[in-house]
Amino acid sequence: ARKIIIDTDPGQDDAVAILLALASPDDIDVLGITAVAGNVPLALTAKNARIVCELAGKRNVPVFAGADRPLIRTLRTAEHVHGDSGLNGPALPDPTMPLQDMHAVDFIIHTLRREAPGTVTLCPLGPLTNIALALEKAPDIAARIAHIVLMGGAYFEVGNITPAAEFNIYVDPEAARTVFACGAPITVMPLDVTHKALTTRTRVDAFRDMGTPVGRAVAEWTDFFERFDKQKYASPGAPLHDPCVIAWLIKPELFKGRHINVEIECESDLTRGMTVADWWGVTDRTPNATFMGDVDADGFFALLTERIARL
Ligand code: BDR
Ligand code: CA
Repeated sequence: ARKIIIDTDPGQDDAVAILLALASPDDIDVLGITAVAGNVPLALTAKNARIVCELAGKRNVPVFAGADRPLIRTLRTAEHVHGDSGLNGPALPDPTMPLQDMHAVDFIIHTLRREAPGTVTLCPLGPLTNIALALEKAPDIAARIAHIVLMGGAYFEVGNITPAAEFNIYVDPEAARTVFACGAPITVMPLDVTHKALTTRTRVDAFRDMGTPVGRAVAEWTDFFERFDKQKYASPGAPLHDPCVIAWLIKPELFKGRHINVEIECESDLTRGMTVADWWGVTDRTPNATFMGDVDADGFFALLTERIARL
């Protein structure tokens, strides 16, 4: 099984991503979950990560708290999408499993130095602050990372928090710039992909009809999460962003993309956080990421349903 660290700001879609990973032990070994401030402040994301582990019956997965704010900017949160807890929807009990004492950034560094080089994959599902801090504190880890598979950015679909920027990159563009320049293999799930992975009545009912506490929670999270896109954009459902990262680890053939150069805009007030993706190869800048553009949405939901049913 591929060893991963999930860096996350749950978030209903982060929660589903965590469940997908925890439901797939033959494919994925979750070494730890590191929380970052993003959708909601750090105290809540660190709590929500543990709520999800307990829901999955995996109290032994260590959860670490990381950065409580972006490298240099004021934290921007997304309660308007995720609700005031970040995980609005089902009523779930407060976690009883402990938060680890170690800082998330130190856990990332320690794990990459402990495990054989090229064997640990990082899966960032929120702003990239923890990953950038780890790379800045311990530059030697860059060469030890097997792969960074992240949700963030956009090209054709452009922005969901400003007209130019996707939320995760916008919240901490300086961190994103550090990560995209680190030299490790990077695979990106941008809005171009996640806006094709839409929840629909049938897809959500498949979770509800499992008749398990986990299936019910996923359906209720999705019901809540969908309201925003349905009301605001008359969309048929909500984009299930973050699970695309974990799905790619299990079934990469569900996705199509291009290995291209991606640079992060950090200066302009108008376009800060934009992922300037050279999709058409119009520059001679060196490719630094595989930017996905398409997903087999039915295959993606079939995988999710099959795995979530195991919990
Ligand atoms: C990203 O922002 C968050 O709201 C979601 O959890 C996802 O990681 C989508 O832009
Ligand atoms: Ca997220």
